[in-house]
Amino acid sequence: VEFPDDERLRVVLSALRVSPEDLLGHGGEAWVYALGDRHVVRLLHEGQDGVTIRLRQALVEELRSGGAPFDLPEVVDVGEVDGRWFAIERRLMGVRLMDQLAALEGHERDLLVERHLDAAALLGTLHLSPRGWYGELVAGDPVRSATWLGYLRERAAVSLRQSTPSLHAINPTELADALPDATIPAFVHLDAFAGNMLATRTAVTAVLDIGPTSVSGDSRLDPLAAAVYLSAPQITPVATSRDLDVAMSWLRSAGLVEWFAPAKCWLAAFWSLRGR
Ligand SMILES: Nc1ncnc2c1ncn2[C@@H]1O[C@H](COP(=O)(O)OP(=O)(O)O)[C@@H](O)[C@H]1O
Ligand SMILES: [Mg+2]
Repeated sequence: VEFPDDERLRVVLSALRVSPEDLLGHGGEAWVYALGDRHVVRLLHEGQDGVTIRLRQALVEELRSGGAPFDLPEVVDVGEVDGRWFAIERRLMGVRLMDQLAALEGHERDLLVERHLDAAALLGTLHLSPRGWYGELVAGDPVRSATWLGYLRERAAVSLRQSTPSLHAINPTELADALPDATIPAFVHLDAFAGNMLATRTAVTAVLDIGPTSVSGDSRLDPLAAAVYLSAPQITPVATSRDLDVAMSWLRSAGLVEWFAPAKCWLAAFWSLRGR
């Protein structure tokens, strides 16, 4: 494992006495390194700052306040070295669900896929006080609407408009209106894929990356999205056709299978703008 090719990042890492072997993972937001057994340091990419971390942490505290069936991120401290922001967080138990999935087979593997979708569905039961609108909870320039379908339309429209010209012909209203409307707004993570959950064998131990994409909306979208992300080799290369079958059976039992294709189309528009 090499340090990322970024001089300022290297300076921060050595100031924190972090070495390359401590790398736990990275994503669209940060490089994450172990700080002993009990903490991690998240080195944020350019453009992320302390204010954003605090807003996200306040959201996580709110979600945790009613009890949670798995661990959620916990910020211990926030700092800045040479213009680069970092957060010290509690180290959570488990390995990336994606890596755990790759290491299992047979019944245990099927079980982990089911628990992955269970966990995605449980996200919608976390405590979220009424907001009076549907849409983005902590985004910088949030897309919000009086109705869920209004949010879905506007989000798809904004993303497609800012994406490559070849996608401008797609009608965002059609994408949104193929999904059901929601009556009670609930917490929706929107990026609860196998790289943003931790697991120990067949148990989901934590859900990460809460905030950047999170919305107040229809909680059915998270298990649908988890199945969509399993079905996409670019997102979950380790997933097999059997894993997808298990996920589709889960959706069928939950009465959600008819929304899989519409969810996949809307999510494609949603992600057309940003990288993970
Ligand atoms: N608190 C934590 N405890 C243990 N591992 C973590 C923790 N936070 C992140 N990681 C590891 O780092 C990876 C990237 O973290 P994540 O929060 O998803 O960052 P990003 O926002 O960049 O995607 C995760 O997939 C996980 O392997
Ligand atoms: Mg992530």
